[in-house]
Amino acid sequence: MHDVDLLPLNTNLSYAYPEQPFHLAAPNLHPRYHYDKFIGGILLINRKHFQLVNGLSNRYWGWGLEDDEFYVRLRDAHLNITRPQNISTGINDTFRHIHGKERKRDTAKCYNQREVTRKRDRQTGLHDVMYNILNYKNLEINGAPLIVINIQLFCNYSTTPWCDCSTKKTEGNKMP
Ligand SMILES: *[C@@H]1O[C@H](CO)[C@@H](O)[C@H](O)[C@H]1NC(C)=O
Ligand SMILES: *[C@@H]1O[C@H](CO)[C@@H](O)[C@H](O)[C@H]1NC(C)=O
Ligand SMILES: *[C@@H]1O[C@H](CO)[C@@H](O)[C@H](O)[C@H]1NC(C)=O
Ligand SMILES: *[C@@H]1O[C@H](CO)[C@@H](O)[C@H](O)[C@H]1NC(C)=O
Ligand SMILES: *[C@@H]1O[C@H](CO)[C@@H](O)[C@H](O)[C@H]1NC(C)=O
Repeated sequence: MHDVDLLPLNTNLSYAYPEQPFHLAAPNLHPRYHYDKFIGGILLINRKHFQLVNGLSNRYWGWGLEDDEFYVRLRDAHLNITRPQNISTGINDTFRHIHGKERKRDTAKCYNQREVTRKRDRQTGLHDVMYNILNYKNLEINGAPLIVINIQLFCNYSTTPWCDCSTKKTEGNKMP
C-alpha cells in the first residue's frame, strides 16, 4: 500500500517481498508522522496476512485514519511489524512528500464520520468490499510486468452515508 504523494529518495529502502508486514515509511523517516503506531504512508504486506486481518475497513471514505484502524487489525492478529534498519537519512531526506493544503476534497467530513472512524471496525473488510473491475492495463517498468486494475468502488449508503459529503453540509476539517 503506497501513498501517491510519498516518493522514496534513499536506495536502501527495500521493496522486497515482505515475510512480515514491513513499514517502509517508518515514523523516524516519514516527513510528517512520527507516532509509534503510525503504519501509513508505505506498508508492504503479503496476501496471506492481508487476508488474515480481513483487509481494510470499508467505513473510511476520503482522507485519513484508515491506516490507524489497520494498525489495530495487525496488532490484534499478533503480526510483527518490521521497519527499515539501515537507513542513514532522516525525516527530511528519506522521502519526498508532495501534499498541499489545496486538496480540500480529500479532507471533507460529514454525518458522524468523524466519530465512527475513530472506532475499531470488526465488521467490514476484504470479505464485503463491493467493486467492479472496469479495465486492466498492462504496463512494463524496467522490464518488469505491472498490471494496473481500474476499479469502481460501491458505497453502502445506509452504513456509510459520508461517502458522499456533497449532499450534506460538511464540517470544516483541519488536517492533523
Ligand atoms: C540494507 O540495505 C540494503 C540495500 O542497500 C538492503 O538490501 C538490505 O536488505 C538492508 N538491510 C536491512 C537489515 O534493512
Ligand atoms: C512475532 O515475533 C515473535 C517474537 O519474535 C514470535 O514469537 C512470533 O511468532 C512472531 N509472529 C509472527 C506472526 O510471525
Ligand atoms: C545503506 O545501508 C548501508 C549498510 O547496509 C549503510 O552503510 C549506508 O549508510 C546506508 N545508506 C544510506 C544512504 O542510508
Ligand atoms: C527538517 O527540516 C525542518 C524544516 O526545514 C527543520 O526545522 C528540521 O530541523 C529538519 N530536521 C532534521 C532532523 O534535519
Ligand atoms: C448495507 O449494509 C446493511 C447493514 O449492514 C446491510 O443490511 C445491506 O445488505 C447492505 N447493502 C448492500 C447493498 O450490501
